[in-house]
Amino acid sequence: MDLDKAIKARKSVRKFSSKKPDWREIIECIDAARYAPVAGGNYVCNFILVDEKEKINKIAVAAQQDFITKAQYVVVVCSNPGRLVNLYGKAGEIYARQQAGAAIENFLLKIVDSGLSTCWVGHFVEKDIKHLLDIPSDSNVEAVFPIGFELKKARTKKAPIDLDRILFFNEFGQEEMVKQKKLRD
Ligand SMILES: Cc1cc2nc3c(=O)[nH]c(=O)nc-3n(C[C@H](O)[C@H](O)[C@H](O)COP(=O)(O)O)c2cc1C
Repeated sequence: MDLDKAIKARKSVRKFSSKKPDWREIIECIDAARYAPVAGGNYVCNFILVDEKEKINKIAVAAQQDFITKAQYVVVVCSNPGRLVNLYGKAGEIYARQQAGAAIENFLLKIVDSGLSTCWVGHFVEKDIKHLLDIPSDSNVEAVFPIGFELKKARTKKAPIDLDRILFFNEFGQEEMVKQKKLRD
């Protein structure tokens, strides 16, 4: 799929059909996450592909979001900031989370490209997810992604925020591109 099309087509899907995705397609989406930028050359993210129904149901409880139970697969993304903290001190904590965000966006675009659907779930009781999936205590759970095929026409994509509300030129709050002075009149 064309990159621009994938970026614009990505949307959160919370209603899935009963059709089961091929788990190898999901692995390919996770593979795409490896190509995201990494601070100091240290890859800090892990992806856990969950297909056990009982675990998926428990993840839904930890997230207090029932729609997760309808997904055939759930991908849980975690990151371990340890090596980045050793290298960069407190900033390493931030770098790890930023790196996870970049990796996740690659993953999400590939999900769209594969014809699959998901929703970024960031609200959950972290300790419950960690306990359930045996995630080490020094790792952070970044997000949970229930994966499936969208139930036909379940929802259309909302328009994104207007560009002129987020874009400034040369300094925060400057809404117009000021013409550059000519070098010579
Ligand atoms: C950090 C983060 C956390 C989110 N947490 C949840 C969540 O817990 N449950 C949920 O249904 N959607 C969650 N979302 C999805 C947003 O609600 C969704 O991206 C937003 O409404 C824009 O819609 P779109 O993804 O279709 O463009 C989260 C998104 C982000 C980036």
